[in-house]
Amino acid sequence: MCGIFGIWGEGAAIEVAEKLIVGLRRLEYRGYDSSGIAFDVFDVSSSSSKRTMVVKEVGNIDKLSERLALTVQDEKTASLDFESVTRGHAAIAHTRWATHGIPSTVNSHPHLVRDSVGDVEFAVVHNGIITNYRGLKDFLIAQGLEFESDTDTEVIPKLCKYIYDGYTESQRGKVSFRELVSQVVGELEGAFALLFKSKHFPGELVGCKCGSPLLLGIKSEGDQGDGHTFVRQNSGCVDRLEESETDFYFASDASAIVEHTKRVVILEDNDVVHLKEGGYSIFTLEKGSRNTAPSLNDPSLLRQTNRMLQTLEMGVEQIMKGGYSHFMIKEIHEQPDALIETMRGRILLQTARRGSLSSLKEVDRSSESLRVLDSVRDLSLDSIRALGSGMSSDFDQAPCIKLGGLEDYVDNIMRSRRLIFIACGTSYHACLAARQLVEELTCVPVTLELASDLLDRQAPLFRDDTCVFVSQSGETADTLNALKYAKHKGALCLGITNTVGSSISRETDCGVHVNAGVEIGVASTKAYTCQILVIVMIALKLSEDSISKMPRRQEILRDLLNLPSMMKKVLEKESLIKELAKELASENSLLAFGRGYNYATAMELALKVKELSYMHSEGILAGELKHGPLALIDETMPAVVVATRDSLREKMWSTIQQLLARKGRLVLLVSKDDDEIIGHFSGNKNVRLIEVDTVCDCLQPVLNIVPFQLLSYHLTILRGYNVDQPRNLAKSVTVE
Ligand code: F6R
Repeated sequence: MCGIFGIWGEGAAIEVAEKLIVGLRRLEYRGYDSSGIAFDVFDVSSSSSKRTMVVKEVGNIDKLSERLALTVQDEKTASLDFESVTRGHAAIAHTRWATHGIPSTVNSHPHLVRDSVGDVEFAVVHNGIITNYRGLKDFLIAQGLEFESDTDTEVIPKLCKYIYDGYTESQRGKVSFRELVSQVVGELEGAFALLFKSKHFPGELVGCKCGSPLLLGIKSEGDQGDGHTFVRQNSGCVDRLEESETDFYFASDASAIVEHTKRVVILEDNDVVHLKEGGYSIFTLEKGSRNTAPSLNDPSLLRQTNRMLQTLEMGVEQIMKGGYSHFMIKEIHEQPDALIETMRGRILLQTARRGSLSSLKEVDRSSESLRVLDSVRDLSLDSIRALGSGMSSDFDQAPCIKLGGLEDYVDNIMRSRRLIFIACGTSYHACLAARQLVEELTCVPVTLELASDLLDRQAPLFRDDTCVFVSQSGETADTLNALKYAKHKGALCLGITNTVGSSISRETDCGVHVNAGVEIGVASTKAYTCQILVIVMIALKLSEDSISKMPRRQEILRDLLNLPSMMKKVLEKESLIKELAKELASENSLLAFGRGYNYATAMELALKVKELSYMHSEGILAGELKHGPLALIDETMPAVVVATRDSLREKMWSTIQQLLARKGRLVLLVSKDDDEIIGHFSGNKNVRLIEVDTVCDCLQPVLNIVPFQLLSYHLTILRGYNVDQPRNLAKSVTVE
């Protein structure tokens, strides 16, 4: 939901502008209806002074890149020098997902205020939402400032000018850029990450955040950000760095920074970062100073602070398409590996056989241990199957689960009155898929909440509740606000996110990272399957002390290890799914039925189909068929039925019969070993069959969604839409 990017460093103006474009491409998944950049160029006609050049365009980043090329060639820019290399470029960029005002050049960022000769005095890019902008706008208009856009953001540069113009001459000589920014930010309410540049503070950049994410990347000489795998290492607290060859990058997330450097500071709320003369300093806007009118010389307004310098664990290859035509299809195919990454280091496998010394071998993060996981998977025919029976002759003990971020909280969680899973969209569906197992293994009542609905209702939460916040990005505003609400109510808060350092992972009491790898396609795929896996592992962890649950736990653990190879087999069905997509591509609607563990599969299928291919689609609990949806069924209505083998198979069989009796055209997802269903429907021209391996019921949704991820991908391509950037959507929804 909007991405911001900034550079302080060396180069020719054109190089800096092109770097801004590349940075925006990495963030494009966050919003892509318009974009813009502001950077410095030399004005040769006025004794080489620097001027701020602003380029904006409606549409995706390709359009902005074309506009930049035209601008550079334009006669009007003939007196500008784009080629001379200097240090101290301060440049900002933005890719937009419209919230206030339609996508248009005038509404796109950077938002500006110009002086009487047309030079840019202040330029601002913003991710988030300013909730009190109407009052500020009215006030500024009354003071004579003119507005051109419909956005909330435009009040910010105008406020900069209003406050700056109010300084006396001597104050102007003394005030720093960060002090001015902190005064401006003190007037703002809402959620924001902001970057500022100004003619009055040439060669300086200020970034700040409150509620929206912002990272600072620090690239010193020799630091290539080369994409090798790094182990996280905290190299101490650094608050200032003054190396002459240092370049700095601000970005909404790490994907725009990693190709320049892996050294980052993850900024906290109320941080104000000042980049100047090759150094950086971080200050905290003191609590209580916001929304007041601080005095200019008030030393308590900004307190210098230390922030940990961290090393990114991601590689550049993770943000590239790697030979695939779209991120979505790449991420779908990455799922077998993503599942392994999610399990890595978390399953302790006993490899000692009876009669020998018993030892638990940990599947840890090293490649050596990954081989242990692989070899155990190879053993599955004998030993692992024996584990499932609970009467292993090969193993003394069942494997167990190690979840570092949860170990100290297991007792507290198990003493909870309720477990409440809170999420939005696909992440909510992951909770839906795993709820039954958590209930079964923990015997604690489990409820699910859509984050926005929980907040709308101000639902009662108690100190003895455990709230589990599930979010791929870890930044979704609804989920984050629900987390703040739950903390306020005193509930224990557990986070499940795919983004290390995200707001949700930082603000929860404990949690588990999903480790599915960077997900860039706007439609969530690998994060979904890995989120289910994480919740399953949490349920296994919480029930470790229960003797009665042991056989069930062993059954699940055995199948967990087989899941990646089974997933690979499902992916091999892509050509069959593509054919099916051709049959369905011109339909107006697609219904999906599931129940039990696979109600989530039906819901997630429908969400994927509608958000990507713009075909109407509805996920329906099969048990509700007779209570209304059956009226929709006739020979024109295609319907998918998830009927893989589990305790509800007979009920799904009856659903199929009822749909066929109304001449429904069906796509059945069935178990490969279900001869009865396959035999019955083979050759039926109204029925298409997709066969998948049978796995333990609670893990079946992980396999079952894959054909439908592929289906929605191919439907979208066939219908001619942009699969990685569906209209009106953004990856990280950081506004309510
Ligand atoms: C759909 C999709 C969205 C997200 C939702 C929550 O494909 O990706 O429904 O699941 O916006 O996002 P996170 O998981 O980042 O909180």
